[in-house]
Amino acid sequence: VTTILQDRFGRRIDYLRLSVTDRCDLRCTYCIPEGFKGFNEPDDWLGSAEILRIAEVFVRLGVGKIRLTGGEPLTRRHIVEIAAGLGRLPGIEDLSLSTNATQLARHAGELRRAGVGRLNVSLDSLVPERFARIARRDCLDQVLGGLMAARREGFSPIKINMVVLDGVNLDEIDAMAAFCMRHGFVLRLIETMPMGSSGRDAGHVDLGPVRERLRKRFGLLDGLVKGNGPARYLQSADGAFSVGFITPISQHFCAACNRVRLSADGTLFLCLGQDERVDLRALLRGGASDRDLEGAIRGAIEMKPERHEFSEKPQQVLRFMSATGG
Ligand code: GTP
Ligand code: 5AD
Ligand code: SF4
Repeated sequence: VTTILQDRFGRRIDYLRLSVTDRCDLRCTYCIPEGFKGFNEPDDWLGSAEILRIAEVFVRLGVGKIRLTGGEPLTRRHIVEIAAGLGRLPGIEDLSLSTNATQLARHAGELRRAGVGRLNVSLDSLVPERFARIARRDCLDQVLGGLMAARREGFSPIKINMVVLDGVNLDEIDAMAAFCMRHGFVLRLIETMPMGSSGRDAGHVDLGPVRERLRKRFGLLDGLVKGNGPARYLQSADGAFSVGFITPISQHFCAACNRVRLSADGTLFLCLGQDERVDLRALLRGGASDRDLEGAIRGAIEMKPERHEFSEKPQQVLRFMSATGG
């Protein structure tokens, strides 16, 4: 019996994105509408033990990479214990977290000690008023404080996720690159995706031309393949600075997709941009054995779609990004 997960298109699935809450303390315009009321109730969420049980089955199936996401994962109580539990799973190779960093100063040390190695931090602007306009909350200082605390704790790498928005922060890319060079962060520029009703109107930018401009401006070279995520990198000649481009719309990366997503309420989503899903919580709470869970996960992988269809079906209203953690 093989223990690895492979889908119908020959893609090896070895990466689980684990959302621990769909709530967030920010309201980024491209992610959640201002007065959004559609969150799950905390009663719907998987408990810590349930999360760890499902994760353990995935790890046994060869999924060695787990990323904690949300919503904002650091708003979940006991997040450090959850991280520590994941960090102890035999077979886990890479434990990472995506955060907006508002509460990172408080948690950075504990997370590092719990075994989180890599951090991806959302940061769309270094100008306080702009930050507040995008996130609908005025807390840039808090975020920068969190980022610097993380840097002191030695997370490596720390990646800065900047969603590029026309008319909002498009003119700030060079400043963000300089900031990342100065502090040793990897920069990643992201094209908006039409998730929910948000991503659609936030100011989509095709990053192809931006990539060519940055290449010349900073004398960058094509990056060596780095990680196995969706980003395609450029790097400086000495390798000290890298910038990745996440271009789901202008140049999608689905052929190399290696991931599935577990939402906070225990639904396994097979693709960010499609609706295929399996309710693992129902199985778990119905008394499923580990064998049953394993079978359900294998069955789910069989349903994984070939790719998203954001461009073909732009009118399709999918769940909000916060529901499945991006
Ligand atoms: P690494 O493990 O560091 O490569 O992380 P990552 O880039 O996979 O994760 P992160 O949470 O930092 O996500 C960065 C951006 O990539 C977000 O905007 C995500 O929505 C997007 N992204 C991540 N995975 C996928 C995917 O499978 N499909 C699409 N279309 N976008 C994705
Ligand atoms: N399009 C692209 N990226 C998005 N994110 C959230 N919503 C969207 C969207 N509509 C990003 C966040 C974060 C990452 C996990 O997902 O900015 O960096
Ligand atoms: Fe994978 Fe779907 Fe993301 Fe494409 S859009 S990379 S298939 S999860």
